[in-house]
Amino acid sequence: MELSERIKKVKPSATLVITAKANELRKKGIDVIGFGAGEPDFDTPDYVKEGAIRALKEGKTKYTPSAGIPELREGVAEKLKNVNKIQYLPSEVVITPGAKMGLYEIFAVLLNPEDEVIVPAPYWVSYTEQIKLCDGKYKTPLTSEENGFVFTADLLRESITEKTKAVVINTPSNPTGAVIPKKELERIAEVCLENNIMIISDECYEEFSYDEPHVSIASLSKEVRDITFTVGAFSKSYSMTGWRLGWVASPEKFAKAIASMQSQTVSNPTSFAQYGALEALKDGGKFPKMMRQEFMKRRDYIVEELNSIEGIKCVKPQGAFYVFPNITEYVKGNIKNDVDFASYLLEEAKVAVVPGSAFGAEGYIRMSYATSMDNIKEGLKRIKEALAKLRG
Ligand SMILES: Cc1ncc(COP(=O)(O)O)c(C=O)c1O
Repeated sequence: MELSERIKKVKPSATLVITAKANELRKKGIDVIGFGAGEPDFDTPDYVKEGAIRALKEGKTKYTPSAGIPELREGVAEKLKNVNKIQYLPSEVVITPGAKMGLYEIFAVLLNPEDEVIVPAPYWVSYTEQIKLCDGKYKTPLTSEENGFVFTADLLRESITEKTKAVVINTPSNPTGAVIPKKELERIAEVCLENNIMIISDECYEEFSYDEPHVSIASLSKEVRDITFTVGAFSKSYSMTGWRLGWVASPEKFAKAIASMQSQTVSNPTSFAQYGALEALKDGGKFPKMMRQEFMKRRDYIVEELNSIEGIKCVKPQGAFYVFPNITEYVKGNIKNDVDFASYLLEEAKVAVVPGSAFGAEGYIRMSYATSMDNIKEGLKRIKEALAKLRG
């Protein structure tokens, strides 16, 4: 029996090639330094674990309401009000099994076949594949390195067609770390309002904005809030990637549709994990602040070191925990593209990085600095040596 046309269109992740090669080397006992991780290198805080353990012991192990336990929906609505300055009723917040599932649900409840979504490139790998899974189409306007990879209202305006239904805003961004300034968010919101376009605001990295406070686009006005899906997660903020907990906050009509979709698919986010997340909300942002301070030091170090390498140009990212250096000067001879460059680093330097083409931007690599300073230092030393060899 043939697979569906839908699944045949979905690309397996290009990052898997490098990951598989890195794992092969590790199995042979070779010490590979990994810059591929998309998750903080900190343990989940103990008080969060305790919350989940307590829930397990108290027998909170059964189905919960599809949209999540009421306390957590209230807690997230409260956080969105106090920290993000957006008014949402608890009934407008749906707890999802990770932000990833939340995003998929948004595309599913929003898109009809042929509807278009604007996804600024470089983009996080799952947006385009999820849109395809929902029979939608996408446009991927490329942001410019000169502008720090910041998405702009002008770029948005140029990409709109009569089929455009939504735009994805991801600030701070994975993979570039770009942060969209408030002024630009205001212009983007204006274009969306003028053109009747919904905003899907992926704020998974909201806690990791280094140079200015994070701004949620839905906080700009009631009108903007009413056309926005605000997506967040416990995953990165509380180092809870394996817990699978995020949220989508949106006007009631959409929140109900997403909850209904959850009721027919996943049933609910894991019961005891939700009780752990309740404890995370009580910490008042202390844990993410600790990580932010550490990541900022690493960012400053890695950017400076990369820029000291001949032929590498690295924009200083303002958020998340990734750098996205330009490696085009090394694309010559046997190195035909960024995938070859990443393979060379793996084979020669035993350092794993992700090629930029996986994110819709050739000529770059993504490196995560969610790894120890010792690893960063050793990895950069190896990269420097391997590139010196390449230059001859
Ligand atoms: C930009 C972005 N959005 C969403 C997600 C998914 O987050 P979660 O683990 O909560 O599903 C990730 C994870 O890497 C991400 O980088």
